[in-house]
Amino acid sequence: MDDDKLDLLLRNERYPRSARYSARWMVDGAMGPNPVWQAEALAEVMPLEAGMRILDMGCGTAMSSIFLAKEFGVEVWATDLWVKPDDNLRRVTEAEIEEQVHPIYAEAHALPFADGFFDALVSIGAYHYFGTDDLYLGYYSRFVKPGGQIGIVQPGLTEECETLPPPGLEPYWKWDFCAWHSPAWWRRHWEKTGLVTVEVADQLPESWQDWLRWNEVCDHDGGTPGREEAQMLHADGGRMLGLSRVVARRESHARLDE
Ligand SMILES: C[S@@+](CC[C@H](N)C(=O)[O-])C[C@H]1O[C@@H](n2cnc3c(N)ncnc32)[C@H](O)[C@@H]1O
Repeated sequence: MDDDKLDLLLRNERYPRSARYSARWMVDGAMGPNPVWQAEALAEVMPLEAGMRILDMGCGTAMSSIFLAKEFGVEVWATDLWVKPDDNLRRVTEAEIEEQVHPIYAEAHALPFADGFFDALVSIGAYHYFGTDDLYLGYYSRFVKPGGQIGIVQPGLTEECETLPPPGLEPYWKWDFCAWHSPAWWRRHWEKTGLVTVEVADQLPESWQDWLRWNEVCDHDGGTPGREEAQMLHADGGRMLGLSRVVARRESHARLDE
């Protein structure tokens, strides 16, 4: 598909900042639902100021890191396991933002940062891979300053289901989708630690349509129209699936040393 057509198909009124970035760049770095749209959605509820130090945990191809650095003047540690920092450094250099985005190779349970180093932590399409353990937030939240924000967006459910797969989605369901949770589930998951105050726990508005549109365009561009995830989103029609967004603030008094 030519780049102009791609731009046209992926122009999203809801995300005007993202619309300034090349759709080809976004599609070529795709690993899941569009991380640039999700980063913009997080920034709506996480005020970011120039010079802030941000952890982008599970950044994949670092598109969200590059976007946040360019749009808000923040400095980002683009941290990932599957995508090597050499690849991300190339992308960061191409985007001419190497002063502000630092690619890091790290596993989520062995982060090479000092406690309280970051002003805010973001994670897009990734936190559910390592953060569903009850105790993980206690480890992760230590890296943000007391009073700093922690934000995540990832595939999720509108509400928790008694049994999985959700009715009607059996033909498409993969076992690891069991880590997809509702905003209410994430709220409880974080609040029960007493370490943070949850400020936002919602499903991004019309996120299933955005997710479906993104998949359809990527599938079409890749020469494999109508792949399984798009079929699943179609079949669901927004009943169970969407993108869960959660933002919390680390309590100032939280003791993390135990
Ligand atoms: C579906 S990709 C999403 C990447 C990117 N944020 C995006 O939205 O396009 C999930 C990312 O989570 C990262 N990830 C999964 N488990 C991880 C772990 N245990 N430690 C660090 N990163 C992890 C992977 O490296 C991968 O890049």
